[in-house]
Amino acid sequence: MKSKDHGESQDSNRLHTALPISGSFFESLKKCVLPVEEAWSLPPKCYTDVAVQELELSNLFRGHWICLGRADQLAAKGDYTCVDFADFSIILLRDNDLTLRAFANSCRHRGARLLDGSGKISGIRCPFHSWAYKLNGSLAGAPHMDAATGFCKSDFSLMSYRVEQALGFLFICLSPEAPDLETTLGDFNDIHSPWPIETLVSTRQQQFEVDCNWKLFIEVFNEYYHLPFVHPNSIDSVYQTPEASDRVQGAFTSQFGGTDGTGGLLQNTQQKSLPKIPGLSGKEASGVRYTWAFPNMTFAIGVDAMWVYHAFPLAPDRCLVYQTACFPPETIATEGFDDLVAAYYHRLDTALAEDIPALVNQQKGMSNPDAQQGRFQPLLEPNVAHFAHWYAEAMISKA
Ligand code: FES
Ligand SMILES: [Fe+2]
Repeated sequence: MKSKDHGESQDSNRLHTALPISGSFFESLKKCVLPVEEAWSLPPKCYTDVAVQELELSNLFRGHWICLGRADQLAAKGDYTCVDFADFSIILLRDNDLTLRAFANSCRHRGARLLDGSGKISGIRCPFHSWAYKLNGSLAGAPHMDAATGFCKSDFSLMSYRVEQALGFLFICLSPEAPDLETTLGDFNDIHSPWPIETLVSTRQQQFEVDCNWKLFIEVFNEYYHLPFVHPNSIDSVYQTPEASDRVQGAFTSQFGGTDGTGGLLQNTQQKSLPKIPGLSGKEASGVRYTWAFPNMTFAIGVDAMWVYHAFPLAPDRCLVYQTACFPPETIATEGFDDLVAAYYHRLDTALAEDIPALVNQQKGMSNPDAQQGRFQPLLEPNVAHFAHWYAEAMISKA
């Protein structure tokens, strides 16, 4: 599904100007690095200001590993997709050796955009003057360029980016200087070792835009506080009070909580549950872990399914969101999967339809010139607080 039906895009330039960020903004950010019990939420400017978004794009999206979804979504050679956010456009593809590659979507001749959307290709041909690139990014043909003195095709491969995977999640890094993904994620793999996350298969992906800042979208997914107020009749009663959030080492945060039934279904469709993920035991056999891999990906891994969101800024008040549902191959092979999985998709759609109006409303309140920083409920919003801490340090460090 590609939907833009969550409201018309607003002219972000109308909202706030890209004036230089003031020192008082950074003073406000320092209040976010206190322990969760004392920490303040991010300043409203983080959700409304063009200059702040530009700093985010530089420090968080260009200077850090960002998630582009699940690796199994580009399964065969020639599968490609374009990811566009802010001014960036990235071609992600699987080459003839089945290696995943990421390139800047810009021709090395005179800069034309090369590809749109997603699909299958055997090579990349620029629509402007027909320079042709192999799937590994090397320039294979450049009509009539023999006449250019010293022109050497090997000097004009596509701009490429590092691509790495963790547990089947696909990450790229636009900065050559950032540490590798394993160093960045620390004990990410260990925390998730009870689940066979790497082998889960993507069964449905939706892409849509929402009229709120990209951080608001990921934040609401990571906090329990709103459940009884925004989801009273859909999913609230499935969730027990969560455990204290984990102490992790790496650019992520994670919190586990017990569930009555599965978090993958509405409270009134629990009888439609699919088999449990093979091998689960102990508390993981009756609960769900919510993880946020900073900056832009979050997922819930439950007893039977995983659902993932990754998001990008389009404007301070608008974001691009991908939602992916994943199940074990054993579950997908069971009889009746197609019927039962519809109830899981319905649960995702229902919760989303309840969250989006709350987010649009929050964005409006954040845009009030007199909006203020707030405080966190330590047990119900620790993932959000941990993100704010990481964000504040990342924004301050290279300001
Ligand atoms: S801009 Fe691509 S071939 Fe000229
Ligand atoms: Fe929600």
